[in-house]
Amino acid sequence: KKKMILDLDTGVDDALALAYAVADPEVDLIGIVASYGNNLLDVCAENSLKLLELLGQTDVPVYKGLPHSSTTDSFEVMQVSKDIHGNNGIGDVELPTPKRAVEAESGVDFYIEAAHKYGKDLIIIPTGPMTNLAAALEKDPEIAHLIGNVTFMGGALTVEGNVTDVAEANINQDAKAANTVLQSDLPLTMVGLDVTLRTLLTKKETQQWRDLGTKAGKAYADITDFYIDAYYNLDIDKNGCALHDPLAVGVSIDPTFVQTISLFMKVNYDEHNYGRTIGDNSRLNDPNPNVKVAVNVDKERYLKVFMERLNSVLKE
Ligand code: BDR
Ligand code: CA
Repeated sequence: KKKMILDLDTGVDDALALAYAVADPEVDLIGIVASYGNNLLDVCAENSLKLLELLGQTDVPVYKGLPHSSTTDSFEVMQVSKDIHGNNGIGDVELPTPKRAVEAESGVDFYIEAAHKYGKDLIIIPTGPMTNLAAALEKDPEIAHLIGNVTFMGGALTVEGNVTDVAEANINQDAKAANTVLQSDLPLTMVGLDVTLRTLLTKKETQQWRDLGTKAGKAYADITDFYIDAYYNLDIDKNGCALHDPLAVGVSIDPTFVQTISLFMKVNYDEHNYGRTIGDNSRLNDPNPNVKVAVNVDKERYLKVFMERLNSVLKE
């Protein structure tokens, strides 16, 4: 079994990624690191605790990561995040206050400890800003050579950004951290807007969860319908919502869901094209590119597996 750590800024699609990881028989979810992003750090951490409780997974620990690197005290949740994910990050669905708290150990130290303990068996899936992973690399650079794979949701290579013309939301929150990760020696797979915007979920699928007649099925349907409505109302996509974060989980388990090209990648973090993920010209002829960038997706096959996984965990 693969040892997996999810690094979530728990909004709606992060919640779907969490359920997918819980449900996959090949995954041993060893912990969740909390990030800020779709909401404040504490809210995102609490959302993960609430969802784990809803899914009956109270033995999965949640570690708190770092607040926003440059605007620690003044970080405000962007209005667009509230419009897409709700004021509470999970579609304004009220879940019970969690019985557990976050772990005492920091998310950054948990990364370092897990890298030394599990080595190549460890898979990390960041689906928010990469502030925590960058901090771990800075604290202990050796982990870049230990970890098996990092499959992150973020960036855009062949399409425009979703928060600016050039930047995808996760990268845009902390472009410098993303650059630290992309320029490290970690084995990386980028699951960006190139593929996630093509992988849509509709109310036909969420109705299946509702029909399960369970608390978890109803909660997940309500949470996700908020997100589908937002995509419709904000004219992001009238046909459904993007499965950004759960696609990264799927690709980390079965890389054949996507086609990739291998490139040396960097992230612009000066004001010019802030947050753009792009090939690094200075390393075009380097024979060992560091990032597999997903550029095409078998969305029908992915959606089928996604629904099998979600139905299995939500029916209990
Ligand atoms: C990404 O930004 C966040 O709002 C989503 O959860 C996803 O991780 C999409 O750009
Ligand atoms: Ca996310």
